[in-house]
Amino acid sequence: MTQPRKIIIDTDPGQDDAVAILLALASPEVDVLGITAVAGNVPVALTAKNARKVCEVAGRPDVLVYAGCEKPMAHTLVTAEHVHGVSGLDGIELPDPKMPLQDQHGVDFIIDTLRAEPSGTVTLCPMGPLTNIATAFERAPDIIARVQEIVLMGGAYFEVGNITPAAEFNIYVDPEAAEIVFKSGVKLVVMPLDVTHKALVTQERLDPFKAMGHVGDVVLGWMDFFERFDIEKYGSAGGPLHDPTVIAYLINPDMFSGRFINVEIETKSELTRGMTVADWWGVTDRAPNAMFMGDIDADAFFDLLNQRIATL
Ligand code: RIB
Ligand code: CA
Repeated sequence: MTQPRKIIIDTDPGQDDAVAILLALASPEVDVLGITAVAGNVPVALTAKNARKVCEVAGRPDVLVYAGCEKPMAHTLVTAEHVHGVSGLDGIELPDPKMPLQDQHGVDFIIDTLRAEPSGTVTLCPMGPLTNIATAFERAPDIIARVQEIVLMGGAYFEVGNITPAAEFNIYVDPEAAEIVFKSGVKLVVMPLDVTHKALVTQERLDPFKAMGHVGDVVLGWMDFFERFDIEKYGSAGGPLHDPTVIAYLINPDMFSGRFINVEIETKSELTRGMTVADWWGVTDRAPNAMFMGDIDADAFFDLLNQRIATL
């Protein structure tokens, strides 16, 4: 087997973030150098607490967890308790984490790690607003060329928006940060709602978790809570499992298909703030800057989740 891929998970748990962290910690293909929490679904004090709760569910209290930015670069924080609950991880009661939160700020951890590791060997995996990543790029521009790749969950094209009619939550919360990341020149893979809305957590796909003991029970609790919002909203057969698509891509990219296109971020208009303006049909001469995914083999995705999380 080739060397595991070194990654930093930047996250706002969030039940779907939590499943993504479990998948990463259960997969030998990735080496999680650290987890940086960001304000998003809930404030950063809670996302940092939730990230540690998830690591303890996975039996990995050794993972380095850092708190990052507590607010977006230019806007007041918009949170999503209506989707994730007040704790951000509603659905099952979990004990407060015993493992420590690292003293260093998450942005400084990102900067120091990219400077310390050989250039081109660390992949950033943002699953929440891009505040930490963009702040690191602004504070230490030298690290931008050292990033191997960014694989992020965010944005939408055909699926337009989930927090406004025009924008997906992660991009909407901090569009200025998203603009910095999308214009950075770093190799970018985007998992938009167009993909994640095809990864629906149906009852049939949840059944295997019933035989996985405590970890399975925790995932079932999270999914039961998390999916109710999307089923009511979209009338779908289940909730979309957004963030684990980022980790699944690192393990098996062939599960996805998309186009290398130009994607720009709306930051000026309040009406369309945070819209990912994706040139899917190539109608402009703007230079492509992102591998924008459009499809997923959902059965393969859930098979991978079941297979790997069962090992925890
Ligand atoms: O729009 C979905 C995204 O916003 C997911 O990452 C979810 O966790 C929230 O952060
Ligand atoms: Ca998230």
